[in-house]
Amino acid sequence: MKFDVKKLTLDEKLHLLTGADLWRTYGANGKIPQVFLSDGPNGLRMHAEDGSTKKATAMPTISVVANTWNPALSYLDGATIAEDCIEHGADVLLAPGVNIKRTPLNGRNFEYFSEDPFLAGTMAKAYIDGVQSKHVGTSLKHFCVNNREYDRFYQTSELDERALREIYCRPFEIAVKAQPWTVMCSYNPVNGVYASENKYLLKEILRDEFGFEGLIVSDWEAVHQSYKAVKATLDLRMPYSEKAYPELKAAYEKGLLTEEEIDYCVQNVLNLVEKKVQADQKKKETLTKEERHANAVEIAKEGIVLLKNEGVLPLKKGKVAVIGEFSESPTLGGGGSAYVQTDFKQKFLSDLIAEREGYSVQHEYCLGGREHGTALKKGYAIAYEADTVVISVGTCKEVECEGYDRTTIRLTPIMENFILETAKINPNVVVCLHAGSAVDMSAWVDEVKAVVSVGYAGEGTNEALSAILVGEVSPSGKLTETFPLSLDDTYTGEETGNGLVEWYSDGIFVGYRYYDKAQADVQFPFGHGLSYANFVYSDLKIKQCGESEFEVSYQIENTSEVDAKEVSQVYVKQVFPMVVRPEKELKGFSKDLIKAGEKKTVTVKLDFRSFAYYNTAYRRWHAENGPYEIYVGASSRDLRLCGKVTLSLDDATQQSKW
Ligand code: GLC
Repeated sequence: MKFDVKKLTLDEKLHLLTGADLWRTYGANGKIPQVFLSDGPNGLRMHAEDGSTKKATAMPTISVVANTWNPALSYLDGATIAEDCIEHGADVLLAPGVNIKRTPLNGRNFEYFSEDPFLAGTMAKAYIDGVQSKHVGTSLKHFCVNNREYDRFYQTSELDERALREIYCRPFEIAVKAQPWTVMCSYNPVNGVYASENKYLLKEILRDEFGFEGLIVSDWEAVHQSYKAVKATLDLRMPYSEKAYPELKAAYEKGLLTEEEIDYCVQNVLNLVEKKVQADQKKKETLTKEERHANAVEIAKEGIVLLKNEGVLPLKKGKVAVIGEFSESPTLGGGGSAYVQTDFKQKFLSDLIAEREGYSVQHEYCLGGREHGTALKKGYAIAYEADTVVISVGTCKEVECEGYDRTTIRLTPIMENFILETAKINPNVVVCLHAGSAVDMSAWVDEVKAVVSVGYAGEGTNEALSAILVGEVSPSGKLTETFPLSLDDTYTGEETGNGLVEWYSDGIFVGYRYYDKAQADVQFPFGHGLSYANFVYSDLKIKQCGESEFEVSYQIENTSEVDAKEVSQVYVKQVFPMVVRPEKELKGFSKDLIKAGEKKTVTVKLDFRSFAYYNTAYRRWHAENGPYEIYVGASSRDLRLCGKVTLSLDDATQQSKW
């Protein structure tokens, strides 16, 4: 059944442009099916009629999914969450978020993919494809330039055009190729105009240039003046607002809003209804609750990052002390609209290790919010007796949460001191870090033998972490955000903006792009992650297969006796740019299983956009002729191979359509 805007009265049309309540579209008294939109990126977060939150599978957070560098797992993540949506009747999942991690203080970094736009967009596209493969819609969010929670409703993000295009819009441009059913605008103004009323962003860039064909929905309460939103082609104001209809009616009667502008947005709402109706005939659950849980474990296994290991992992058989309440109840995810209520009860990390042959495990839960002398003393005592000590520390959903930012990126003094004191009494300390974003570990990292970035890894955390700690699976995750030495080493530091505007004076130099330009040391660089295997890169070959298309091939040999996956990364550097450009930029990557002793050929493709930057004079993406260096690395600061290519494009080809 096609829903046609021409068959509706003006009143019905105006009501359709606003939600009927917190989560559903307007139903015109049963004349039009209602679409149910529900959070969130790390699993279904859905309110029940009684106001409670329905139980669902707490998947690893997006930040951990990103650390897998495995688009197939991002797809699986989306497809798994879609199963809970089908079970509970959500038509559109309000995810994924692709906002760039510009500062580690951002309260919602656990919900986002990366500091790099290419990685974020690529992983988000796979996630959208996964969800929508089950006939559940998505909402790519928050468009755009929403990179901290401080004063997010009102503070302008002011930035130059190249930063807007090359960094902050780029993940959306890549992900929108999956044609998400919806895109959600952000709260903040961009260069002085609210995103919800910003026609340049919503129509000229998102729709006309990026080719987005779906519905634009506001973030909840992000619309200030409904008629301005409609004129900017924001189709659906959420949630219900009693002001919306009278305001739209008055604007129409005053001639501020035309029937054509109204019909354009109403048709997009009807198209969303149509998608829902079609989907209802196709969608069905295929995974049991146990299978969804198993997927959460698998993704967590590949999203956990081994940052440091001086010969203590995998854990040797013998006496192991497991300390810290995060080992009992790891943080599943950050706070706010993305927090998932699961009824899955994780086994303690200590019990899961003890289940494996040859480990004698003692545990103490201190260090969390319940630190007290006796528990600490007991912790020291079991640490003293053990061959290896595993300390689980981190942050929690009250620290990393929607609505506010962190004020520090260090752990609590109790946690830091316990690590330092334990390292004095036992030389073999492994720290497992449960945090949603980068942590300053400079106070203690040199005193311990190993650090594992677990992240907020969902309900499968301890199953995944124990498998890695005992060596049943080699860690294969890599960082998608830089871990700086301290907050002072970041570009933004404690900067928040003045409540009216935050000037993005770093421009395109965000994340590793900044640290490279500043030639600054970092604790652990973008793309870093260790393995239990050893990989040797060799035989770089670059074949030109088009005017600006190249195939970059190289060999990776696993010289160890451990099967493992490796994430290899391809960075591009323009040698003599006519504009400022980052030292190098990620333009390709591959995750490959390479068995013990195996040598595998990996191929990554580069195209025009791998070389281009956004030229503000041409107002288009532009690739300059001349030499470019192609780097292949195990991280952004562990570059193993280098090759050169030269672009010699004719004038017309030098500029893309956009
Ligand atoms: C929140 C969030 C958004 C979420 C929406 C509905 O304010 O910014 O990500 O999807 O409102 O809960």
